[in-house]
Amino acid sequence: MTNLFNKNQLRSLHRQIDTPALIVHEGRLSENIRQMQSLADSNNAALRPHTKTHKSVYLAKLQLKAGAKGITVAKLSEAEIMFRSGVNDIFIANQITHPLKLKRLRELRRKAKVIIGLDDPLQIKLLEQAFKNEKTLLPVRIEINSGLNRCGVKVDQSLVELAKKVVKSPCLKLEGLFTHAGHVYAAKSDGEAAEIGRREGEIMEHARNLLKESGICVNTISVGSTPTVKYSVQNPQVTEIRPGNYVFYDAMQIKLGSATVDQCSLFVLSTVVSRPEPDRIVIDAGSKALNTDGANMTGAFGLPLNVSGKIVRLSEEHGILEAAGSCAAQIGDPVLIIPNHACVAANLFDYYYFVDENLKIRQITIDARGKSQ
Ligand SMILES: Cc1ncc(COP(=O)(O)O)c(C=O)c1O
Repeated sequence: MTNLFNKNQLRSLHRQIDTPALIVHEGRLSENIRQMQSLADSNNAALRPHTKTHKSVYLAKLQLKAGAKGITVAKLSEAEIMFRSGVNDIFIANQITHPLKLKRLRELRRKAKVIIGLDDPLQIKLLEQAFKNEKTLLPVRIEINSGLNRCGVKVDQSLVELAKKVVKSPCLKLEGLFTHAGHVYAAKSDGEAAEIGRREGEIMEHARNLLKESGICVNTISVGSTPTVKYSVQNPQVTEIRPGNYVFYDAMQIKLGSATVDQCSLFVLSTVVSRPEPDRIVIDAGSKALNTDGANMTGAFGLPLNVSGKIVRLSEEHGILEAAGSCAAQIGDPVLIIPNHACVAANLFDYYYFVDENLKIRQITIDARGKSQ
């Protein structure tokens, strides 16, 4: 086990916290926040962390206090929760097209500083219909496809045409360009991740230059994923970074080489509920606590730290560990696990249990968990 909690400390925590539960190591969390802010500062870029990872107002405020310029969210409902709790500079890195959402976006925009994404002329039309009687322009960013092949336009004439439409719009203001190089999660090495990060920066630089040639200037060039950010931020054209996962890191980041075990700050604490065979340990954290995401990448369903075994299978309420017969874990013992994917683990719980250096425990609400609309 790493220098996390020693055996006695883990047992003490386990006596006080019912399982399965999400544990946050406050020291590591603060260090992760500090390091990413320092990366942004030293490259003259603003940090607008993606709060889809932690979904918590408390954590967003910690990031802002450390120097973040604003936050990013994936969903309008996340933006609403963050604004209601006092966070007021929010980029919704997503396209909004449903009529009920457009109405809610209009309401939110009347009170809050929000920016939203788009990548199609039809979205401009929908936004114009919803915002035609508003007194202020809605700031938007055009999404660029830097290789993920999810949303986003290619950097060619279609980008210029789209940008021209935004510039001409009586309701919208072109605030910037953004991209997310999420295809990095299929990279086989840190070298490959570095190359994807460099390309992410270059593609955005090219996009900015192409618009400039057509007389269109944008303020913000926004990039970011946790594995690519340290590479893409080095491009001087990049003005903003949006990593999310870095607050916690997880087993997928370890596998990619973009974090070490000792940097991970989020854990699922579970309990051994059965040991039906010497080589089979059953814990109370199944897919409702660990989720199945990332197993094809890491080859397991999370990384146990204090038990030498591999989580080979999950059902909803049970996690199955393959263990050596000599493994001493007994029924009732704690098992501390780095989840494969921290962002999805956070979506499964109501609270984090923050643990400080004196092992003091605080319950922190995961305010925006389950907010998918
Ligand atoms: C649009 C967008 N930006 C930024 C991020 C943050 O990426 P990561 O969690 O790798 O830091 C994500 C993550 O899904 C995203 O979808």
